[in-house]
Amino acid sequence: TKKIIMDGDPGHDDAIAIILAAARPELDIIGITTVSGNADIDNTTRNALKICDLVGLNDVIVSQGASKPLVRLRETAPSIHGDSGLDGPDLPEPSRSWSHEHGADTISRLAREAAEPVTLLATGPLTNVALALAKTPGIQANINEIVLMGGGTSGNWTPTAEFNIWADPEAARSVFESGIPITVMGLDITHQALATPEVIKQINSIDNNVAQVVGELLDFFTSTYQETFNFKSAPVHDVLTAAYCVAPELFTMQDVNIAVETKGEFTAGTTAVDLQGVTGRETNAKFGTELDVDGFWTLMINALKTY
Ligand code: BDR
Ligand code: CA
Repeated sequence: TKKIIMDGDPGHDDAIAIILAAARPELDIIGITTVSGNADIDNTTRNALKICDLVGLNDVIVSQGASKPLVRLRETAPSIHGDSGLDGPDLPEPSRSWSHEHGADTISRLAREAAEPVTLLATGPLTNVALALAKTPGIQANINEIVLMGGGTSGNWTPTAEFNIWADPEAARSVFESGIPITVMGLDITHQALATPEVIKQINSIDNNVAQVVGELLDFFTSTYQETFNFKSAPVHDVLTAAYCVAPELFTMQDVNIAVETKGEFTAGTTAVDLQGVTGRETNAKFGTELDVDGFWTLMINALKTY
């Protein structure tokens, strides 16, 4: 099994990523850390705990991480995820509280304690990951790979920037420059993973509580994607990070250099993805270009059936 730490800002798609990972025997979730992003830190942490209760991750540490970006002001995304960050389903209040350890410290500690280097899944702004790198010398050696959702060759929060990178560009830059192997699920590939009405119908027909909650999450996510972005269906961005760890063969990846814009007047948070190799800069990331869409949804639906 692959030991994974999940850092994110749940978040509808972050939540579904946890639900997928928890269902799969290949993955061993050793910790969950939260960051401010889709909602403020207390909300994203409460949401992570609610999802842990839902899927029975009772022994997995949940640590609260950064309450704001490294340098910039905090901005959240209620237009997409509602005020709670996880609007839609009516989930019970969490049965437990979060750890007293800071999320960035949990990442470092778990990575150092593990017998083998761990895989870090990052589905929110990269503040905690950057803090862990800054605080813990040599931590790079304990992290096999960072599989993250962020960036792409287009934007969704500004014309050129994707939300997770835009929310904390300085953190993202330090992660991309860390030397750790980075696997990137950007908008180019996540926009292929649309929760269409047919998909939602299949999920709703699965007779268990977890699948029902996922159906409700997707209904809410669809409605905000329709209103805010004029999409017909919602892309389940973050879920691709977990799916990749289970079934990389569903993904077409390209080795590229990615640089993060931290200064641009109009382009802060943009990822400059060198798909054509024009910069001559060394490759630092695997970048997702094409998804086996049917294979992806089959994986998700089969995982939901196991609950
Ligand atoms: C990313 O931003 C958030 O709204 C989602 O959870 C995802 O991580 C997509 O741009
Ligand atoms: Ca997210």
